[in-house]
Amino acid sequence: MSMMRTKPIEDVIAQGDEEGGERTLRRRLGPLDLMGFGIGIVIGTGIFTLTGVEARDHAGPAVTIAFVIAGVASLLAALCYAELASSVPTAGSAYTYAYATLGEIFAWIIGWDLVLEFALGAAVVARGWSGYLAELFDLPTALFGEGSRVNVGAVVITLLLGVVAATGVRQSSRVTNVLVAVKIAICVFVVVAGLFFVKAANLTPFVPAAQPSPEQESGLTQPLTQLLFGYAPSTYGIAGVLTAAAVVFFAYTGFEAVANLGEETRRPRRDLPLGLFGTLAVSAVLYVAVSFVVVGMVDYRSIDPGAPIASAFSAVGAGWASALVSIAAVAGLTSVILVDIVAIGRIGFAMSRDGLLPTSVGAVHPRWGTPFKVTIGATVFIAALAGFVPLSSLANLVSIGTLFAFVIVSVAVPVLRRTRPRLERPFRVPLSPVVPVLSALACLYLMTNLSVETWLRFLAWMVLGLAVYLLYGRRNNRLARADAK
Ligand code: ALA
Repeated sequence: MSMMRTKPIEDVIAQGDEEGGERTLRRRLGPLDLMGFGIGIVIGTGIFTLTGVEARDHAGPAVTIAFVIAGVASLLAALCYAELASSVPTAGSAYTYAYATLGEIFAWIIGWDLVLEFALGAAVVARGWSGYLAELFDLPTALFGEGSRVNVGAVVITLLLGVVAATGVRQSSRVTNVLVAVKIAICVFVVVAGLFFVKAANLTPFVPAAQPSPEQESGLTQPLTQLLFGYAPSTYGIAGVLTAAAVVFFAYTGFEAVANLGEETRRPRRDLPLGLFGTLAVSAVLYVAVSFVVVGMVDYRSIDPGAPIASAFSAVGAGWASALVSIAAVAGLTSVILVDIVAIGRIGFAMSRDGLLPTSVGAVHPRWGTPFKVTIGATVFIAALAGFVPLSSLANLVSIGTLFAFVIVSVAVPVLRRTRPRLERPFRVPLSPVVPVLSALACLYLMTNLSVETWLRFLAWMVLGLAVYLLYGRRNNRLARADAK
């Protein structure tokens, strides 16, 4: 039963409120900083690549609707995050919510899962960053491309951003805000300039008629739903839009990292919900607008799946705009990597404070106020991954990890309402438990659209995590040691 023990909410809140010392972070962030971090991690490769592939293969111009649907699914999860983050502001986010509601083993699983999400996310994006930079400045692919033996670009950017993340949350916030301003400005430019080239003919029919899929995936690459129920991804029609929604959901992943800044926010109870919703609102509006303009500029059948936005401008004779789009992509990806590293530091900090990881690794630097050891450790791990492992096929693992965390957080909301009905909740999910249940179902639906291969890799990572827990965390965590006294 010890694996199911929960951590008292009061302990969680008290730990966050302590001041000074090796075990506490510094409260330095306001609502705009939180939105900067949120948008910093959310807007990345998703909008720059998936728009093209999904318009061409699954949704046609209605890829815009797919972005709306994925945004609504994300909003359901964000509501659940907002309730928990505002009532229990902590650095551990989903990990700590699970510890306080579902039990230690769930907490460990979700912590391990978040490490996967943020570390792998940073590594995948670092390689993408390297590729974009090479394209922008015509750099040698032997050092910056997918085929390189050591992806020097990916290693260098990861290490640089690791230094920024370790030396202070204010620095990280300043760098992120600059990068976010660049990418938002360029997205707005794409929308405004692109609108002049939108042709009604490209947008009709908005939802192309459903067609049999030209090629069906099979074996490990087929979606889990197809293996279980024989339900294959659809080409066009309403079902095609739903398939596209599951894929473009990736573009929204990451907003929940805002919740990891609970112990560094000056007024977390008010500002964490603002940061979460502000991030989602800005990202959703930009995604819907950018995708609308892109499918309005180019016939979806001839859209470029690799670089849809840049090619759309080239196709209408405005090739000069492609360079701007590449700059937005590089700025966008840089901030994704930085916020991933910041977030992973906070999760490692929370897990080590609880003794599920060795306590020394979670130490806070006396001057920088950051969990510098775990941040540096994570940076080196990410740099090694990004430098040596061709990861592009693992991007879906980031989505499955995120969705799993969303399911746990959605379940934790009604559980905590039942176990701690009187807890102060500055933000409450409307219509609980209906909305949390819908949120969990939406996330499960999206998870089942991922490939069998992704599920197997995810399960393998989880089994490895369980082994680490049984060998180390189970005996060494604080609650276990307190019980043993
Ligand atoms: N949401 C992030 C992106 O689209 C991970 O790149």
